[in-house]
Amino acid sequence: MFINTHLQQLRGHYLFTEIANRTKAYQQTHPEAHVLRLGIGDVTLPLPSVIIEAMHRAVDELASAATFRGYGPEEGYLWLRQAIVDNDYTPRGIHVSPEEVFISDGAGSDLGNLSELFDASNTVAILEPSYPAYVDTSRMAGREIIWLPCLAQNNFYPALPKQKADIIYLCFPNNPTGTVLTRDELSRWVEYARTNHSIILFDAAYEAFIEDPDVPHSIYEIEGAQEVAIEIRSFSKTAGFTAVRCGYTVVPKATSLQTMWLRRQCTKFNGASYISQRAAEATYTPEGKAAIQANLSYYKQTAQIFLEGLRTLGYEVFGGKNAPYIWCRVPHGYTSWSFFDHLLHTSQIVCTPGAGFGPTGEGFVRFSAFSNRKDVEEALKRMKKLA
Ligand code: MLT
Repeated sequence: MFINTHLQQLRGHYLFTEIANRTKAYQQTHPEAHVLRLGIGDVTLPLPSVIIEAMHRAVDELASAATFRGYGPEEGYLWLRQAIVDNDYTPRGIHVSPEEVFISDGAGSDLGNLSELFDASNTVAILEPSYPAYVDTSRMAGREIIWLPCLAQNNFYPALPKQKADIIYLCFPNNPTGTVLTRDELSRWVEYARTNHSIILFDAAYEAFIEDPDVPHSIYEIEGAQEVAIEIRSFSKTAGFTAVRCGYTVVPKATSLQTMWLRRQCTKFNGASYISQRAAEATYTPEGKAAIQANLSYYKQTAQIFLEGLRTLGYEVFGGKNAPYIWCRVPHGYTSWSFFDHLLHTSQIVCTPGAGFGPTGEGFVRFSAFSNRKDVEEALKRMKKLA
């Protein structure tokens, strides 16, 4: 037996596990502390009642012989795939067919699993800083990584790769910097992919935070993108499904990968749970849409309060508009991990150290606006005392 040495070479802990471990260690020695969790992008508002009721109905169906269901289609139920097409794509003038939509148990799984479609010899371009799963997944597969540094002096915009990249991970609105691309800017990436026969894995998990009309919600708003892009979406950040687990991935037939992905999913995935799919379907009802928009407005306002509050305290901050994350430069004399520890130990605030998103994230921390509003206000008060 030979183990996967690529996996063995990954650093000890996944970023968010390391943060959770440090927070837990602090709490064990300070059980009285009221720790404010502004690190991982995990939602805090309860699910709207229309979604809870849909899940209750689904559970009741499973309780009766007349309505019981067993395995569903591996690619997801047609009623949900059709609802996605009708609500997320058709109104934006994008033609996607339900056969191109694959329901998943969340964007995270698909972002990793899609890697199996491609030969290990492919090079992967990854923005840096970036969501660590792209890097870890590529390393597990033993792929050569082309880093695309996103620097503050360029407003964290990535430059196109100078060499040929076969696979490109893009995430916009960006996690962690909050940067967004306009249609023209995204068009350059599609053009690059078309010229170089690359595939873009477009992580659109945060599209619901977009407010600027010039910022595309889907990469398929760009002409020609259906030939070169797979789009990954999640109900986690849009509808608060981090516990429910449901997302979807669009693999257009024009990429020539749709049948391969279907084949892969049928072998290795038995489908998202019926209950989560009914919950996801409820997000597209008029009541579901209204409730979700209300929750999103709350998080967007929290982001604004956080952004302005940090600015007033003298921090240099980015993101927070069209995005739920605030990317904040750490004060002089700190690294991103030492500032993380400082905030935890002096103010009981948990953030995410920028270096965990890659070396160019050094000197920054990320704050999440998915947090409870009171906790954000309290964090600003505690940080004021530090100033
Ligand atoms: C993050 O905090 O970057 C993400 O929410 C974590 C995740 O979605 O897995």
